[in-house]
Amino acid sequence: MISSRFSKIGFILAAVGSAVGLGNIWKFPYVTGEYGGGAFVLVYLITALFIGVFILISELLIGKLGRNDAVSMFENLATKHKKLWKYAGFMAFVPLIILTYYSVVIGWIFHYISISLQGLPHTVEQSTEVFMTLLTTDIQTQLFYHTVVFVLVTAIILRGIKGGIEKINKILMPLLGILLGILLIYSISIDSFSNAFSFMFNPDFSKLSSEAVIVAIGQAFYTLSLGMGIIITYAASLPKDSNIVKSSILISIIDTTVAIVAGLIIFTLLFDKGAESTKGAGLVFISLPSVFYEFGSVGSFLALLFFIAIAFAGITSAVSMIEPAVEYFENRFNFSRIKATMICGILFYLVGVAVLLSNIEAYSEVFKIGEKSLFDWLDFVCSTILVPIGGILVVVFIGHYMDKKEIENELIPVMGEFLTKFWFFMVRFIIPIALVIVILNETGLFKF
Ligand code: PFF
Ligand code: NA
Repeated sequence: MISSRFSKIGFILAAVGSAVGLGNIWKFPYVTGEYGGGAFVLVYLITALFIGVFILISELLIGKLGRNDAVSMFENLATKHKKLWKYAGFMAFVPLIILTYYSVVIGWIFHYISISLQGLPHTVEQSTEVFMTLLTTDIQTQLFYHTVVFVLVTAIILRGIKGGIEKINKILMPLLGILLGILLIYSISIDSFSNAFSFMFNPDFSKLSSEAVIVAIGQAFYTLSLGMGIIITYAASLPKDSNIVKSSILISIIDTTVAIVAGLIIFTLLFDKGAESTKGAGLVFISLPSVFYEFGSVGSFLALLFFIAIAFAGITSAVSMIEPAVEYFENRFNFSRIKATMICGILFYLVGVAVLLSNIEAYSEVFKIGEKSLFDWLDFVCSTILVPIGGILVVVFIGHYMDKKEIENELIPVMGEFLTKFWFFMVRFIIPIALVIVILNETGLFKF
């Protein structure tokens, strides 16, 4: 049994810290750009509310009732097939795999903090050159920052839930809010803000495809850190009298707000300089640096705030990725905190080094499996296959294999009989079907 180690506000901030990450600041803006702006945003808001909040409630419930590491919780709470359900808890290792490459990306962000200080690339061509040089040739810089991330993350985790995770989130989350606030105010002050605003909020339904709806579901999922044992693990340390429904709504509102604010900032800056909203890494590491340069002296300052903000968002997500595995070793094997942290830390560090080398031109052939690099493979397998499967396991478990009375005792007092029934209907039938469709579509097995 795990005791209540978080304070109420500490838990919310830690969950928000995990949720708010690269998914909000770079993925959300570019998928919005790709899938037609306003209409996509609207669909995303609806899915974040129905699917996001409903699964958040499920994960908080498992944690609050289970109070253990993820594996033990699935085993103990299952009303039948305990031995099989135990394996669902191994979803807690998925974020540790994600961390191997997430850490490398946070390293790039650190490097761009120093670029903002030293001088930004002047043109898109230069910007491309700077990024590609870092990615495909510069082992030393990437290794250095990957090591920095390893040291930071393990130092925080070693201090435990209260002194480490809660504390870092209590510091970094408000700072992140302030940084984004400054960037937002600056964006509002330039003309193209109104274009960015109407791009994001004027829905043009002719642009909406079934593909967009599926992407919105996947994004709602990834952005809230669902389906990988993270929220479940954090919730095991929840104060006993927490209102899990209120907390879920709050977490998802804050995460969504950050995504929308990031979108408004990024589109205002891009539109102002007539730049393209390119995909993924290109948006943050190629388009934006040269756009920031065009803003003159204030541009380097904006760039600095922007990259620091992403670094904060990244670090708080990174600590959440290792904690579930650390607790598994602590609880199931009675390892000390330091031993459990070191095992998980060294594991992600070493695989991270391989990931980093897989992008280096001279070694890329060694790490190539088929068409994709190791980096792309890990991201593909985790984000598009394992995470949605984790989500399906959570809802099937809670909808069909947990004690219904116990769940109702928790939920009916806080959300009433009708909403509890509706929630049950969603997690039992609608959400599992929606997730199967997401997996089929994203793996290309069946396109809708
Ligand atoms: N929710 C994070 C984001 O939106 O960037 C992503 C994430 C966090 C993924 C934690 C995986 C994870 F373990
Ligand atoms: Na997020």
